[in-house]
Amino acid sequence: MAIQIKWLGHAGFQLDIGNHTVLIDPFLTGNPLAAVPAASLSADFILLSHGHGDHVNDTPAIARRTGATVVANFEVGSWMREKQGLENVHTLNPGGGVALPFGRVELTIAHHSSSLPDGSYGGQPNGILIFTDEGPVLYHAGDTTVFYEMQLIGAHGIDLAMLPIGDYFTMGIEGSLQAIKFIQPRAVIPMHYNTFPPIMQDVSEWAQRVQNETEAQPIVLDPGGIHQL
Ligand code: NI
Ligand code: MN
Repeated sequence: MAIQIKWLGHAGFQLDIGNHTVLIDPFLTGNPLAAVPAASLSADFILLSHGHGDHVNDTPAIARRTGATVVANFEVGSWMREKQGLENVHTLNPGGGVALPFGRVELTIAHHSSSLPDGSYGGQPNGILIFTDEGPVLYHAGDTTVFYEMQLIGAHGIDLAMLPIGDYFTMGIEGSLQAIKFIQPRAVIPMHYNTFPPIMQDVSEWAQRVQNETEAQPIVLDPGGIHQL
């Protein structure tokens, strides 16, 4: 069965894996490039990389409406449970994972910061690995700079990486090219760019450099755009 990946804008994705709908870092409300309104999304699972508002703000409402299970680190997950009243929450930490009906979800390290919208401590920020039951392995790096341990993440054999390229809050184009050399994914989708003035990027320049300087296939989506694996 195919895996469909839709970019929701910013770091947000909707993955349709078999008959399961999985959201990663959905951020629609207050996102000038949002693909769809948050209220239109369905979800069985919501995976969160860290506690910043541009990754978690829409999750309480989507999870309450859909009953989706949230997967996050211990601090973000506990905040969703205790402060937002969500019942279905997995609270992981790096290297740990959980078997879900579409595959295993595991948190990785990321180098960034993490606090919740009310100022609560958000724990360590994360990347997200998804070992789908269908076969493909997906890696959403979250907000991060490039780091050497991306080689270990790449050793899993990554079919598709979702990497920030916006600069300012995360790695930019230069860092993402180094990250691609460490991870060696088959294909890579850029994210976390153009949403706000500080993270404007020339994504066609990025794609050209990925073609010229790495072995990966660059996949540039518009918000709402879909890639099939
Ligand atoms: Ni962040
Ligand atoms: Mn962010």
